[in-house]
Amino acid sequence: MNDQNLMEKIVSLAKRRGFVFPGSEIYGGLAGTFDYGPHGVVLKENVERLWLSLFRDGRDDMYGVDAAILMNPKVWEASGHVAGFSDPLVECEKCKKRFRADHLDDVAICPECGGKLGTARQFNMMFKTHAGAMEDESATVYLRPETAGGIFMNYKNVIDSVHPKLPFGIAQIGKAFRNEIAPRDFIFRLRELSQMEVEYFVAPSAWEQAFEEWRAMMHRFAEAIGLPSGMVHELEVGDGDRAHYSKRTIDFEFDYPFGRKELWGLAYRTDFDLSAHEKGSGASLAYLDEESKEKFIPHVIEPSLGVDRTLLAILASAYREDDMGGEMRTYLALSPKVAPVKAMVSPLLKNKPELVAKARGVRELLKKVHPAIAWDDNGNIGKRYRRQDEIGTPFCITIDFDTLGEHPELADTVTLRHRDTGEQERLTIADAADRIRQAIS
Ligand code: GAP
Repeated sequence: MNDQNLMEKIVSLAKRRGFVFPGSEIYGGLAGTFDYGPHGVVLKENVERLWLSLFRDGRDDMYGVDAAILMNPKVWEASGHVAGFSDPLVECEKCKKRFRADHLDDVAICPECGGKLGTARQFNMMFKTHAGAMEDESATVYLRPETAGGIFMNYKNVIDSVHPKLPFGIAQIGKAFRNEIAPRDFIFRLRELSQMEVEYFVAPSAWEQAFEEWRAMMHRFAEAIGLPSGMVHELEVGDGDRAHYSKRTIDFEFDYPFGRKELWGLAYRTDFDLSAHEKGSGASLAYLDEESKEKFIPHVIEPSLGVDRTLLAILASAYREDDMGGEMRTYLALSPKVAPVKAMVSPLLKNKPELVAKARGVRELLKKVHPAIAWDDNGNIGKRYRRQDEIGTPFCITIDFDTLGEHPELADTVTLRHRDTGEQERLTIADAADRIRQAIS
């Protein structure tokens, strides 16, 4: 399977099985927007929950915020985004199509029609809108291009309300918006995206240690969500290529079907943002160390993770096709921790009320282990397995006449089928519950 083919198959499965749909599709869609469907939304929540447990809730030095997307436009003036959050744009003089100059092999020739490309100009990627009834410049507000801005706006509020000592951090998950010149590669480059970000505040001399701690944490997270370690690579970003606020950046890259591309970023933002906001707002953002009585602006380490790129990495690395019993099948080898459905329960036959009743009871019992236990009694058992394989359900549990005690020694046992191998084992209902519990813990 070539890589283009693989992407097409992932996009098709994502739609067919309710993971990701094109945004406003019946009107022809809107470039750079996608919607998460019933299984996609649960996959996303599972990833976000794992991130929260590692990056925020499992630590004593982390706090959460959920800031407004619309902020005073001075935030983005001070942060440098109004002046500098831009990509180089070129337009074809013949077909008028627009491209990102840094994505082209030849910046003189249009890749679509062969026409002549004009000179590159900087295109600011922030979406503008108006707050209130006036539609003039004075009412301009921006949709935030990174969730980080909302964290910096709450640094002082967190200090004044919960009084953390340095080092401490603030974590946030939320939407960000970028008017990308060329959104592409499914949910890789979007105009509306989600980010999971931490701003971790440290004394200036402590930045290197904190940088290393978060670097290790990002690898732990990659492992926790089941990304194969051989597909995640670090790239030390060179001097001319870093964002305007960063003194050191490591890009975590992933081997996507369309090449090795940025998955997440880890940046040392120095005191750039807090100093800029202190200057811009006039508010004091210095931290007073109560022991040394020293007052200073903390420095910041920022692990920044795109949710959508994470989901694409998960889907792309989990996609499998194999031959099972002479039949081609597709499955997602998702880690049980992120899989949207943990197990499917099914009565062997739909038209036997005693089997159905027993299976319903087993499902209720397993739901106490985890609520995401599906029910499927449609079609033959093979078809049910295939459906679950495509959404990455690790276990399928079938209730048959032996469960009901047809052979007394097998009463209250079930068959449990493993997604990746198709192997089945007979075990007690309690053991099946244990299998699920172990796989997701
Ligand atoms: N606060 C720092 C920041 O926003 P960034 O490298 O511009 O840094 C961080 O973005 C992460 O957000 C990226 O590593 C990626 O995961 C995700 N991201 C950025 N632009 C994106 C886009 N257009 N579509 C999807 N995800 C994007």
